Amino acid sequence: MKKLLLTAAAGTLFLVSCGPKSNAVTGPKYTSANDFAKGQTIFENSCNKCHALPDPKKHDDKGWIRTLSRMAPKAKLTDDQHQLVYDYLISVNGR
Ligand code: HEC
Repeated sequence: MKKLLLTAAAGTLFLVSCGPKSNAVTGPKYTSANDFAKGQTIFENSCNKCHALPDPKKHDDKGWIRTLSRMAPKAKLTDDQHQLVYDYLISVNGR
């Protein structure tokens, strides 16, 4: 029994340390107009709570990866919402 528990604990540790990091958006994923519309809605509803809604043109595609990784947790976005907002932003930032 003890051995089983230890194995379970080790397995959990492995999952925590080696599993996909939360909020890990590393590039584009969603590309349909429907997904962009979803991302825009999340953006407009979640990103103007602490400051004015930022201009998507403020950052290029790389810059938004960095900024959004800091802001998505603040806005309490799920990983999927984070991804949808990212894909919307880079679809309209024009750079
Ligand atoms: C809980 C409050 C809060 C929420 C919600 C929030 N932000 Fe911010 N944001 C801040 C604060 C505080 C700063 C200034 C300090 C800093 O840059 O970390 C900031 C700065 C920024 C900046 C300027 C800095 C830069 O790197 O360009 C951008 C752009 C930005 N936020 C985008 C967003 C987006 C997009 C969202 C929605 C996903 C969002 N924010 C949601 C608090 C918030």
